[in-house]
Amino acid sequence: MKIGLIGNGAIASVVTAHCEGSDGRIELVGATVLSGDGPSVGKHPTFTNLDDLLALGPDLIVECAGQEAVSDYGPEILKAGIGLMVISVGALADADLLNTLDAQARESDAKVIIPAGALAGLDAITAARTGGLDRITLRTRKSPMAWSGAPGVDGVDLETIAAPTVIFKGSAGDAARTFPKNANVAAAVAIAGIGMENTQVELIADPGVTRNIHHIEAEGAFGRLEVDVQAEPSPDNPKTSYLAALSIIRQLDKLTETIQI
Ligand SMILES: NC(=O)c1ccc[n+]([C@@H]2O[C@H](COP(=O)([O-])OP(=O)(O)OC[C@H]3O[C@@H](n4cnc5c(N)ncnc54)[C@H](O)[C@@H]3O)[C@@H](O)[C@H]2O)c1
Repeated sequence: MKIGLIGNGAIASVVTAHCEGSDGRIELVGATVLSGDGPSVGKHPTFTNLDDLLALGPDLIVECAGQEAVSDYGPEILKAGIGLMVISVGALADADLLNTLDAQARESDAKVIIPAGALAGLDAITAARTGGLDRITLRTRKSPMAWSGAPGVDGVDLETIAAPTVIFKGSAGDAARTFPKNANVAAAVAIAGIGMENTQVELIADPGVTRNIHHIEAEGAFGRLEVDVQAEPSPDNPKTSYLAALSIIRQLDKLTETIQI
């Protein structure tokens, strides 16, 4: 399988190392990067435009760059009949973009693949929704300063928070808009389950934690599910969970395996 990347950062470097060690099973042909990026994180060439990457004929392009890259390049990639893997899934909290990608993918018979990222349990949630889901809640707990800069904490003095404090309670849609750094997990749970407006999100600033903790609860005809992920940061980027890069690798491996789980 031939793949291309968008991005040249922490996730790209973990994915690249895996492809280069795959004995040709996953051939990484090139990457589209920003003009200010450093040298390639692997042996593959880098380009500052999408056309040069498309010209190399990848079967699939893996976005590991940021939400803008999904809207800037997603439709064109799908139009070319090439599959798109999206890790900056928060971009899909924008219903217009989600609909555009869906329509384009249908037209060209390409697929948009969303890895589980920093979460677990999305397989069970997507299975359970077929039988009917009544309720899904995502509760994310991070150290107070991890929330800094988000529009949702304007006026909150994060440095003085001494006990676990709920800083947001509402829909996944509102969470993605007011806490963009949490948009990836909020959007992933919502798309897997009952949508942006019906998924409930609670965000907690907790001075007692060092990892990013995501707790999912779901209830429906299938029964009840609870999943707790305590994600370690990526070695090269403390803002990114290492599990997110591993989830891309898992999806790539799956596409090349005969026995899939
Ligand atoms: N789904 C999840 O659970 C999850 C978890 C962690 C991170 N993420 C997403 O993954 C993305 C990448 O994470 P990272 O740790 O590798 O970030 P990073 O900052 O280390 O690297 C991002 C790379 O993408 C490049 N880039 C940014 N915009 C671009 C564009 N428009 N075109 C081409 N290249 C572009 C940057 O120059 C950089 O090389 C994050 O932005 C985040 O949205 C998702």
